[in-house]
Amino acid sequence: MSGDTPTELPTEDELGKMSRDELVKLGLKMDGVELVHYEDKWPVKGTRAEKRAERLVALWFLIAALGGVAFLAAFLFWPWRYEAPSSDKHVLYSLYNPVIGITLGIAILGLGVGALLYTKKFIPDELAVQQRHDGPSPQVDQATVLAELADAGERSTLGRRSLIKKTAGLGAGIFGLGVLAVPLGGLIKNPWQDSDSSKSLWHTAWKPVNGEKVYLRRHTGKFHEVELVRPEDLEAGGFETVFPFRESERDNEEALVHAIKSSDGPVMLIRLRPGQPVVKRAGQEDFNYGDFYAYSKICTHLGCPTSLYEQQTGLLLCPCHQSQFDVFHYAKPRFGPATRALPQLPITVDEDGYLIARGDFIEAVGPAFWERKS
Ligand code: FES
Repeated sequence: MSGDTPTELPTEDELGKMSRDELVKLGLKMDGVELVHYEDKWPVKGTRAEKRAERLVALWFLIAALGGVAFLAAFLFWPWRYEAPSSDKHVLYSLYNPVIGITLGIAILGLGVGALLYTKKFIPDELAVQQRHDGPSPQVDQATVLAELADAGERSTLGRRSLIKKTAGLGAGIFGLGVLAVPLGGLIKNPWQDSDSSKSLWHTAWKPVNGEKVYLRRHTGKFHEVELVRPEDLEAGGFETVFPFRESERDNEEALVHAIKSSDGPVMLIRLRPGQPVVKRAGQEDFNYGDFYAYSKICTHLGCPTSLYEQQTGLLLCPCHQSQFDVFHYAKPRFGPATRALPQLPITVDEDGYLIARGDFIEAVGPAFWERKS
C-alpha cells in the first residue's frame, strides 16, 4: 500500500457506494498510513485454545463484578459507626475501611486485568507507518474515519465474543454503580431516621443530660485519665483544646472514648490577655468567663479543626483552606472561604473552681447543611 495522498478524491456519490473495506483502504491511503505488518491472533476460529483464552478474560471481568457487588454491599450495610474497643462489635467496625478498600480494589483490578488480557490475546498485532501530511477534506475524512473505527472494532473481534461482552458489561456496570454510590450514598441515607438522634445536627456532646454538670476536660492521650481544667491552668494569651466530661461517665470506657472522639465535641478554650477589648455577639454577652472564651474547634467551612491560634492578632487559623476567625470579634471570619463565625460555648466556673459548660451551643457547629437556615 502506498503512503502517497491520492490526487483525485471520490465524489459524494462514489463515497456512498463504497464498501467499508474500500473506505478503510482509502482512509489509510489518504492518511499516508502503510500497514507493514498485520497478524490475526486466531487465524483459525473457534479452537479450544481460543475458547480457553476467552473464558480467562471473562473470569477476570466476573471477578470485577463480584468485587463491585461486595463493595456496594459493604458500603451500604457494613457497621461503620464507632464502637469502643470493649464492645463485641469493635472488630467489625474497625474492618470497615479495609473491607471497602479491598473490595473496590478487587473490582478495579478485575477490570484492569480483564482489559489487559483481552488486548493481549485478541487484538491483532499490527504495525503501521504514517507519513506527515496536511490532511484530506472534512467530508472524505469523516467517511473514512468512521469506516476505520468500525473496522478496528471488527478486528478486535469483540463483536462475536458475547461471553466477554456480557462479563465486561457486568463488571464495568457494577463498578460504575459502586463509584456512584460513594458520592450519592450520603444523600440517600436519612440522617433524621433514628428518633434518638433526630436533632443530632442541632445538638453536640456538650448537651446537658438530666441536669448533670458538663466539665471541660483536657485530653492527656489516655482515655481513662480524666483531667479537668481550672482557670489558673492557662496563662494569659494561652489556649487549649477541651472535651466534655460528665462524672457519671468516669468508669464508662465507651462514653469516655466517645466524648473525646465525637466530631462535634472539640472546643478551643482561649484565655485572652487582661484588658483586651472584645466585641461580643448580640445575645451572647455572658458566654465568656472573664478572659476565658470557648469556641467550637470545628471550622464552619468544611469541618477541619481550627487549631492554630495567634495571640497577638487574636486570629484562629484553619489549616485546610486558610480561613481565619477573629477571637477579638466573636470568632467572626476575617479571611478565607468560611462565612459563619465559630459557635461559642457558654462557660463558667463551678463551686469547686472547675470550668464547666453552662449549656450546649445555641447553634449547630461545623459546616452548613440543608436544614440550616443561616
Ligand atoms: S475547612 Fe476550614 S477553611 Fe476549609
